Amino acid sequence: MLNSQPDYSLVRLDSNYELKPFDCGGTDLNDFFINEAKPHLKHLPAVTYALESNSETIAFYSVLNDKINRTELIKRRFPKKKRYATFPAIKIGRLGVHKNYQWKGYGTLLFDYIKKSFTYNNKTGCRFITVDAYNKPEVLKFYGKNGFIFISEHDKDEETRLPYYDLTNFVKHD
Ligand SMILES: CC(C)(COP(=O)(O)OP(=O)(O)OC[C@H]1O[C@@H](n2cnc3c(N)ncnc32)[C@H](O)[C@@H]1OP(=O)(O)O)[C@@H](O)C(=O)NCCC(=O)NCCS
Repeated sequence: MLNSQPDYSLVRLDSNYELKPFDCGGTDLNDFFINEAKPHLKHLPAVTYALESNSETIAFYSVLNDKINRTELIKRRFPKKKRYATFPAIKIGRLGVHKNYQWKGYGTLLFDYIKKSFTYNNKTGCRFITVDAYNKPEVLKFYGKNGFIFISEHDKDEETRLPYYDLTNFVKHD
């Protein structure tokens, strides 16, 4: 897994974190990582993790708590007596892979790590991963390949879409 690879480490940004060069080709995402991720720590809306080598940031993601309402297509997945009004989720608010490392499996590696963390190493219950995904074919293809599906088609013409992943798909059954 990520932390066991000697050349890379996954670091949770804190106030002492020293930024390393990063460019994922997206102005908003670059700007968030370089200028906003650390200030966010003070007001707590999201935490950011960086996958980095000694010299550069390979990828980053920010994560925050979220929920999916029962009415959002999922109520039939639960036995009737166990239905809740909302279901716990985490949102990947932002995700970027450095230009030099895109399409080499790093985004997928990060999602495998996130899925594992919130299925087997979480301190509170979590059922879904949600994302704010750019409505671009290659980005949606990436999320599709990682098992994400859409809550609805209402956002199909919006700038961003809201696919989600059901973590029960990640649970290993004996
Ligand atoms: C989108 C992004 C996060 C994907 O991460 P990644 O490490 O490049 O993707 P992976 O190598 O893990 O996954 C590759 C899969 O994603 C899709 N994909 C990723 N980049 C693609 C591209 N440029 N063109 C077509 N498909 C692409 C393909 O389905 C591919 O699978 P395949 O090789 O089997 O066909 C990354 O490319 C990125 O940061 N892009 C710029 C910023 C951005 O758009 N972020 C998403 C914000 S929602």
